[in-house]
Amino acid sequence: MSSFLDSIYSEASRKVKPSPIRDMLHVIRQPGMISFAGGMPDPEIFPIGQFKEAAGIFDREGKDVLQYGTTEGYQPLKEFLCEWTAPRMGRKPELDEMLITTGSTQVIDLLCWALLDKGDCVICEEPTFVGATLTMYNHGAEFLTVPCDKDGMKVELLPEIIDKAKKQGKKIKFVYTIVNFHNPLGCDLSVERRKKLLEIAEEHNLVILEDDPYGYVRFDGEDLPPIFSMDKSGRVVFASSFSKILAPGTRVAWCVGKRELIRKMTVFKQGVDVCTSVVAQAMVYEYCRLGYLDAFLPKIIDHYRDKRDAMEEAFKTYLPKDQVKYQTPKGGFFYWIETPNIPARDLFDKAIEKKVAFVLGEPFYPNGGGKHNFRMCFTFASPEDTKEGIKRLGEAIREFA
Ligand SMILES: Cc1ncc(COP(=O)(O)O)c(C=O)c1O
Repeated sequence: MSSFLDSIYSEASRKVKPSPIRDMLHVIRQPGMISFAGGMPDPEIFPIGQFKEAAGIFDREGKDVLQYGTTEGYQPLKEFLCEWTAPRMGRKPELDEMLITTGSTQVIDLLCWALLDKGDCVICEEPTFVGATLTMYNHGAEFLTVPCDKDGMKVELLPEIIDKAKKQGKKIKFVYTIVNFHNPLGCDLSVERRKKLLEIAEEHNLVILEDDPYGYVRFDGEDLPPIFSMDKSGRVVFASSFSKILAPGTRVAWCVGKRELIRKMTVFKQGVDVCTSVVAQAMVYEYCRLGYLDAFLPKIIDHYRDKRDAMEEAFKTYLPKDQVKYQTPKGGFFYWIETPNIPARDLFDKAIEKKVAFVLGEPFYPNGGGKHNFRMCFTFASPEDTKEGIKRLGEAIREFA
């Protein structure tokens, strides 16, 4: 339908695409639906009591907490995070190397403001987090996608991909990589590939956006060093978030990178939202200061490991082995399933009829693909629902087989 706005909308407005995951919410909310779709934490373990206690910060700091805050972020939270992240980051970040953001989605947005002109290229994994590519797409990004295997992005393919794009006159600005428990693949980028990726970024003068919201949710094996910790030239922007380790409703996240670039992002943030909610930052800070974050992490790791195991157990019991392929994630939130003989879209329709939902693979491929894949989140549904949901999924698959 035409409207008076048609001739007024921006070019970006004409092209903007809604998130297919958010768009599914009305389907997922149907009564009786069991959803493995959204990448959501288990609300049953939200630390509601401790968070209420953290509201005690209003007694001490209420006048500041309710005032406008600095765009850079609430200083006590930044001080806490610089200290708390230091062992993992390889050194303690300086305060002016860190920016607090409204979700790590905003890190992606601000980095795009700082680096991208329309038509510039971003290198990313194929598949990759659809929320990230939609944000980049809003900035006019084009995508150079790199296939993955069980060790993440096949970085050895990058030199050829980069040379080809450069010959076509494309400008490549940054690499977007989800290093731990990839969304949607569930895999880690191996240490060798992290090193190689950094070398390639140095050779071709690229920034790396190392997106790591799941790194603290490891069930098995050793933590892998962030690319940030290997970086001597300041080209890595490391992003993480409280969404998966505390609660996404806080919308508090952070990034660390080269001062100069963080400053640019901060100036853009001034124009986007002035500052991240000081109320949210202060409560998150107080929660951390009281030691609750450190106490909560082992709890969520155990809880989600059990949930992962319950989902895999249900896969083994209810899914026809010859019709599905998957790899066990060592952490994070997701299984990535391949159904080589069944188009995922057809399976999705059948699954919805049976009141079970997942996310189709296609949106995770910015340049097309994923027709036989889908993503299953194992953290949200209860153990009973997981069993029942996978049983229904198994029935749906058998109807095609
Ligand atoms: C890889 C990845 N990056 C970023 C985000 C966004 O997280 P936030 O809630 O901090 O905006 C998500 C959320 O699912 C994600 O999976």
